[in-house]
Amino acid sequence: MKDNLKGKVIVITGASSGIGEATARLLAKGGAKVVLGARRTDRLKKIESEIVAAGGEALFLTADVTNRKEVKALADAAVKRFGKLDVFINNAGFMPLSPLAANKVDEWEQMIDINIKGVLYGISAALPHFQTQNSGHLINISSIAGHVVFPGGAVYCGTKFAVKAISEGFRQEVGPHIRTTIISPGAVNTELASHITDAHTVDAMKAVLEMAIDSEAIARAIAFAIEQPADVDINEILVRPTAQTL
Ligand SMILES: NC(=O)c1ccc[n+]([C@@H]2O[C@H](COP(=O)([O-])OP(=O)(O)OC[C@H]3O[C@@H](n4cnc5c(N)ncnc54)[C@H](OP(=O)(O)O)[C@@H]3O)[C@@H](O)[C@H]2O)c1
Repeated sequence: MKDNLKGKVIVITGASSGIGEATARLLAKGGAKVVLGARRTDRLKKIESEIVAAGGEALFLTADVTNRKEVKALADAAVKRFGKLDVFINNAGFMPLSPLAANKVDEWEQMIDINIKGVLYGISAALPHFQTQNSGHLINISSIAGHVVFPGGAVYCGTKFAVKAISEGFRQEVGPHIRTTIISPGAVNTELASHITDAHTVDAMKAVLEMAIDSEAIARAIAFAIEQPADVDINEILVRPTAQTL
């Protein structure tokens, strides 16, 4: 099945660390041409040059997913440089967990802007290319937090439930030649929890982080979905650490 990655042109948002970075490296190793987007240009540049040095093909663009034009530029750059867009992975995300009573309204707004509006901008950027080609694969990174709600997670879970709903709507609307996958990870060892500002939540996260698995586990699930034949649509994959009960 591995050959199904070869030559595929794949955009990944949030490719500068964690799951996005691991996915970019794995897919490039499998012969995909990857287009990397995120805000930290220095990191993207390093990842791109390491992929190229290893014999892969990569391109990076500085892209903030809250900026519609910058997200569109990612999809357009893929088509301009590599001639097509096979897969668009909406991976960028932000998780400053806190109880609602902490009243961190700015963080709520950032989560909505990045986790929901960012995904919609990705769809807006990718879908016209998919329709022109009459093929394509949208992969949205939701979470176990898109399946269960927990204290401190009201807004984050809300955004990840939204990603699931939007993905399912996309799947039903786009017709028989465009694939849709939701990837819902459990605890993964990345920088995601480092943005939490609520002290009690930081403490509570320590136990969760102890059981977290590596980003490569999620990258492998993403590769599995992409590798399937064109008429096989893996609609959702949940990947938890074996030790995770929630
Ligand atoms: N780690 C987990 O336990 C876990 C579990 C379930 C789901 N997820 C989801 O997995 C996805 C990846 O997160 P991760 O765990 O790999 O965390 P991470 O290491 O913090 O990576 C997040 C990525 O998103 C990018 N990003 C954040 N805000 C952005 C913005 N405004 N515009 C563009 N890029 C932005 C970051 O890049 P820049 O800062 O360079 O822009 C970074 O590359 C997220 O959607 C997250 O919700 C993670």
